[in-house]
Amino acid sequence: MTMSKKISGFSKLNKKDKIDWIQENFLDKDSSSAKIIKQYWHNNKKLQRIHDEFSENSISNYYLPFAIAPNFLINDKIYAVPMTIEESSVVAAASKSAKFWMNNGGFRYKVVDDEKSGQVHFFFNGDKKDLFKYFKKIKPLFFSNTEKITEKMNKRGGGIKEIKLIDKTKELNNYYQIFATFTTADAMGANFINTCLEKFAETLTNSFKLFENIKLSKDNFDINMSILSNYVPKCLVKVEVQCEKKSLDELEPSIKNFSSRIVDAIKIANNDTYRAVTHNKGIMNGIDAVAIATGNDFRAIEAGAHAYASSSGKYKSLSNAVIKDGVFKYSLKVPIAIGTVGGVTNLHPLVKIAHNILGKPTSKELMGIMGSVGLAQNFGALRSLVTTGIQKGHMKMHLSNLLNKFGTSQSERKIAIEYFKNKIISYSGVEKLINKIRGNGF
Ligand code: MEV
Repeated sequence: MTMSKKISGFSKLNKKDKIDWIQENFLDKDSSSAKIIKQYWHNNKKLQRIHDEFSENSISNYYLPFAIAPNFLINDKIYAVPMTIEESSVVAAASKSAKFWMNNGGFRYKVVDDEKSGQVHFFFNGDKKDLFKYFKKIKPLFFSNTEKITEKMNKRGGGIKEIKLIDKTKELNNYYQIFATFTTADAMGANFINTCLEKFAETLTNSFKLFENIKLSKDNFDINMSILSNYVPKCLVKVEVQCEKKSLDELEPSIKNFSSRIVDAIKIANNDTYRAVTHNKGIMNGIDAVAIATGNDFRAIEAGAHAYASSSGKYKSLSNAVIKDGVFKYSLKVPIAIGTVGGVTNLHPLVKIAHNILGKPTSKELMGIMGSVGLAQNFGALRSLVTTGIQKGHMKMHLSNLLNKFGTSQSERKIAIEYFKNKIISYSGVEKLINKIRGNGF
């Protein structure tokens, strides 16, 4: 073990010293790497400070494309949707799908519910009956002790919905939960929920003296943790599109029964977990990209979506398609816990712009937009998969990246783009062509 690579007080170093230390210990003392790190600093110092303060130990900015997928008709309103993602074909696929569905009535969404939950997880080693009696008595205190926290949220239309005591002792010895549900209006609400939960925990172990005949004490309780859940099956949006089967089949005239192939693709995903995970990954390509562009926590959305996909006991497709009476109906049901106020939404300048581009949506509207992009993305992926295969379009979009990798000049790019117009693109194919251009002329 090289001890020089160990450091204490890294967070106290200034940015330049942090980079020097990284260069010295992890970049083979190579100053060109440090130069690249610094190249990504913003020259507007105020703006740079905002970005630095998003995270501890920040040494530079990490750029991702801020792209637009236009032509999304969602609940009769047209959106140009900001998407932040590094995978080159995602925005192209979303835009292409959006255009088709715009000409077929567009996406329709309904927010089924926007409920979130959190738990105080604790162990209790006394008489169960006493605990339930005690809980009943102190239940109003959970609400009154959090009044200062909930006041603003109540005004905005959110707050605590219900608080229950749950006996989990059959699953784990002495284990109980305070299970609380919340709505958080246009905020993601993680801080709000966690603050309430910590107050509930305090209330649970600090209220014995208010009730003379209660025999319980702090010794009966071991609060393990108080935290919101990212499993949000009741913070759910449903998105749908539909068109005549005939119109869909006409979209891919060279493929027999294109619409049925889409339906079959979803049947396969519902049958096979290996396929379902990839199928849902494609949906999340769209949802995450909008989540990142709008400053939302995509890890929370991912965790919740995949758990929801397995809520039946088997991991399944989040999307569904049926053909009935000559109509192709295609839908997506996915939990999306997000916010349009708070967090980085008010801080990151590009995130603010993203919200402006979307017309400052409410969180429910943004759930609808994200769900629509997720469904569009799934449609784009399935359309390629059941027809030409994914690589044709994917590699077409990826060609620029490959050409960049070989450091091609403008004229070399022109030749390569023309050359690959009707050919399969691969890394080795591009390498061969570039060598040929450079070696022999072309
Ligand atoms: C790639 O990022 C996403 C896909 O694999 C999704 C799918 O297979 O449905 C194309």
